[in-house]
Amino acid sequence: MATQRGGFSSRLGFILAAAGSAVGLGNIWKFPFEVGQGGGAAFVVMYLIFCFVLCFPVMVAEIAIGRKTQLNPVGAFKALGYKNWAIVGYLGLASGVLILSFYNVVAAWAFGYFVDILFGTFNVGEQAFGTFVADYVKVGGYGVLFMLSTAFIVSRGVSGGIEKAAKILMPTLFIMILALIVYALTLPNAMEGIKFYLIPDFSQITGKVIYSALGQAFFSLSLGMGALITYGSYVSKKDNIVSAAAAITLMDVGVATLAGFMIFPFVFSQGIETDGGAGLIFMTLPGVFESLGSVLGIVVGALFFLLLSFAAFTSTISLLEVPTAYMVDEKKIPRSKATWIVAIFIFIVGIPSLLSAGAVDSLTHFVTLKGAGDKSFMDFVGLIASDTFLPLGGFLIAVFTAYVWKKENFNAEMANGDEEIRGSWLQSYVDFAIGYVCPILLGSIFIVTVLDNFLGIRILDILFG
Ligand code: PFF
Repeated sequence: MATQRGGFSSRLGFILAAAGSAVGLGNIWKFPFEVGQGGGAAFVVMYLIFCFVLCFPVMVAEIAIGRKTQLNPVGAFKALGYKNWAIVGYLGLASGVLILSFYNVVAAWAFGYFVDILFGTFNVGEQAFGTFVADYVKVGGYGVLFMLSTAFIVSRGVSGGIEKAAKILMPTLFIMILALIVYALTLPNAMEGIKFYLIPDFSQITGKVIYSALGQAFFSLSLGMGALITYGSYVSKKDNIVSAAAAITLMDVGVATLAGFMIFPFVFSQGIETDGGAGLIFMTLPGVFESLGSVLGIVVGALFFLLLSFAAFTSTISLLEVPTAYMVDEKKIPRSKATWIVAIFIFIVGIPSLLSAGAVDSLTHFVTLKGAGDKSFMDFVGLIASDTFLPLGGFLIAVFTAYVWKKENFNAEMANGDEEIRGSWLQSYVDFAIGYVCPILLGSIFIVTVLDNFLGIRILDILFG
């Protein structure tokens, strides 16, 4: 069985692949704009705290469940003897399918920008972004390419595909980001950007900022849908999973932090507002790159969007791997065939998202929610999968680990490959967090999302003023 499924060839390979899953659009696209909207450094501080206090323990739990059972999220709960809890695995599958369906579209934007900038066909200007994303034939083409590449890697298996890709892409990504930071710091006003980013103004912390930082940390670490259960299922019994989880968390936090050092100097060099929201990357930065002059602008701009594409790529790989592993383990379909079936299915699920960025009016203005207002199809799917399902999944995983699977079994799996963890303060903390901190915080995110967005009850305003 184990040889059929494959596995990571080394601990480093696992760490890089999991860090690749974590490092994605969330770090380089979403994190800076959340920082921009959440008042700068105050948001960064909250985010860092939540990554370690809340997310790290959930990551250990996910990896432990995966490694213990050597199965996909659905099979894992069943194998532990809790058939009903397989529902958490199915919820994870649904999240993976939905997230990849729109994530691939945003990845296609990033990749399309890279190609257009490189070949000088990029249009800079007020309308450029809107025109680009509404061109569904073009974005669809890049989307097909992105999904094909993702499926190609996943079809090659864990060590021959996923691990190999991560070993090339992750170091390259680090080098690109460092190069861009060094350059960005030479721009005029760069220090203003750094100040905004690093000097916290704690009066900016509101209930909303805390809520956003919690959700962002959780999404950024790829938790709540069993991606780490799946990757954990390919980890050797001899490996130390607690320190691996720490390394993955550090890398993810590291890349998000570095992204800020790159983006805020860019933005401030042009004296642009930081609260541009989702458009900060796709609308604001191209203008910054253009102002650098034709050659330099092309080099820096293309490099930036290639970086964003690479980051997205290691994440789409992990998103596709979750349903693929399910098909391989539970449906006994050979990996390569399973990969292509799932990839085609998810691409089709993503078509309405592709069309909801201006191409089709009824999808662009898909629903009006009581709390969240007008949402495109794509934003709506994001709201359901990333903001609702992931915290719910995380809540259930924490409750399961602490109270159903039980701490003794969880601790025994943690200590596999690391006897020193037994009885250590770190293990005590992870146990405490999984039993109390994680269920409370994740349950709260879920409740706030539902009340605020769907029911229009501004619970954060009511509680925090
Ligand atoms: N962590 C990824 C990002 O920050 O872009 C997104 C993601 C990937 C979420 C894989 C969940 C997942 F399972």
